[in-house]
Amino acid sequence: MKIALSSDHAGRHLKMVLAERLTELGHEVSIFGAMDATSVDYPDCAMPALVALVSDEVERCVLVCGTGQGMAMTANRVPGVRAAVVADPFSARMALAHNDARCLCLGERVVGSGVAIECLEAWLDASFEGGRHARRVQKMMQGGSEG
Ligand code: RB5
Repeated sequence: MKIALSSDHAGRHLKMVLAERLTELGHEVSIFGAMDATSVDYPDCAMPALVALVSDEVERCVLVCGTGQGMAMTANRVPGVRAAVVADPFSARMALAHNDARCLCLGERVVGSGVAIECLEAWLDASFEGGRHARRVQKMMQGGSEG
């Protein structure tokens, strides 16, 4: 798969660990964002990767910051994007299987690289299950329920 990967300064180490693993797995990785300790703003780092996702240049997007939260909040404001912050492999798999979240967000200050890699692989290996989950995702993207 083509995958965009970005981080701010707080997520740069984990970003490079994930980049190495993705490359080992045969994915084509586009790396954006911070490459050193200079303090930067996570929305600025997220946007190039999110633009790649919404323009279909990539199939998936992985964002890393200190907690994953700022990246996810940023990503979920971009029309069409569904982003999930995860810290365990089960949630990572379900984020794709049930929520069709094509953007995975991780916190370098929250998870170690081993757990982060397990989350990444669980998410990559998952498939969206569709059916009732597609109906729910559609309602979510329309901004609510049918009442
Ligand atoms: C940076 O200090 C930190 O606030 C950022 O990486 C992220 O955790 C925000 O959500």
